[in-house]
Amino acid sequence: MISVRVRVPVPLHTLGETSAGLLGVEYLAQVHMIDFRDNISRMTGYVPGEQPPPGTKLVKLNTNENPYPPSPEAMKVLRDFDTEWLRRYPQPDAAIARDVAANVYGVPEDWVMAANGSDEMLALLARAFLEPGKKIAYAAPTYSLYINLAEMQDAAMVEVPYDEDYNLPVKALLDAQADLTFVCSPNNPSGTVARLRDLDRLAAGLRGVLIVDEAYTDFADENALSLVSRYENVMVLRTVSKGYSLAGLRLGFGVSRPELLAGLMKIKDSYNVDAVAIRVAAAAIRDQAWMQNNAEKVKASRNQLADALTQLGFRVWPSQANFILTRPPKGDAYRLYLELKDQGILVRYWDRPRLADKIRITIGTDEQNRALLEGLKVLIE
Ligand SMILES: Cc1ncc(COP(=O)(O)O)c(C=O)c1O
Repeated sequence: MISVRVRVPVPLHTLGETSAGLLGVEYLAQVHMIDFRDNISRMTGYVPGEQPPPGTKLVKLNTNENPYPPSPEAMKVLRDFDTEWLRRYPQPDAAIARDVAANVYGVPEDWVMAANGSDEMLALLARAFLEPGKKIAYAAPTYSLYINLAEMQDAAMVEVPYDEDYNLPVKALLDAQADLTFVCSPNNPSGTVARLRDLDRLAAGLRGVLIVDEAYTDFADENALSLVSRYENVMVLRTVSKGYSLAGLRLGFGVSRPELLAGLMKIKDSYNVDAVAIRVAAAAIRDQAWMQNNAEKVKASRNQLADALTQLGFRVWPSQANFILTRPPKGDAYRLYLELKDQGILVRYWDRPRLADKIRITIGTDEQNRALLEGLKVLIE
């Protein structure tokens, strides 16, 4: 047997003696310290909701996916996909999808930038605007990725609390005068929407950039798109993950004046959106009727579920998203989360300030929502 002496930079705990022997590898007991930047070592990283393996029988109401399938037009594009588009690199600016989106948003094409999910837009914004000495502000509780991105850039964070009713703390955000201010609307996890007049005041009074993350806007009654034509420092983020039922595809957009997109275009990967996502998403966005019909069904179910929970004594925040934040009558949210999980029903729970006594429930099909309600009824008795 050939024996190879290798220096192993990290201890390979996973290779036990047997596999090491089988591989004929002799390890030097030398452990190198992996020297991440201090702020990277300190951070915990984003913790996504559980994604059980496909085929697992569960009522999955934990990660705000749309319960209905994507547009049949989009599925047809996927079925008929020309392999030539896979052999070649994709369009660097995802023009096919971007142009369709610009048409729906009613803005010129160069006001729209495509990315690998709106998460990538958020990461690009953090990389472009944040570094030590720069500041990010947001109202909390909100989408926790903002915190991870700020930590990644070692930027200062100003976290301003929402009030009990999730009104946007405009004055405090203005006082912060951050380089980058994030407002999530509808807000994850509360589902509440920031009023346009509040966002308008914020955009007018901030010297830095205002990002309105509208991942859930397809289920809402109002949005902030009109601000991008009025303010050079405003960007609205959109995605096909929620309204268009394409979370697995990974495509999101930034909508703003081209001057604000220009810096992000410089730092994105050359081919940040793949050929499949570009064409399938374009077909889905063209099929507005399908998206809107599903969004209406979700909104109707959301309102029914909110009423039913309220009748059971739960506090429910008024949601314009495809999920509901709710506080059980006794505040024993963690117990309910665990016991629902035992019944095969997944909802989202965070042991975080202001959230530890609440659960967030994604709106499912009527059948899934009924199963959830039945489960909850038994558990709170
Ligand atoms: C507020 C918010 N923004 C952005 C995203 C990410 O969306 P995408 O799938 O487009 O990356 C999520 C996903 O859950 C979200 O809740």
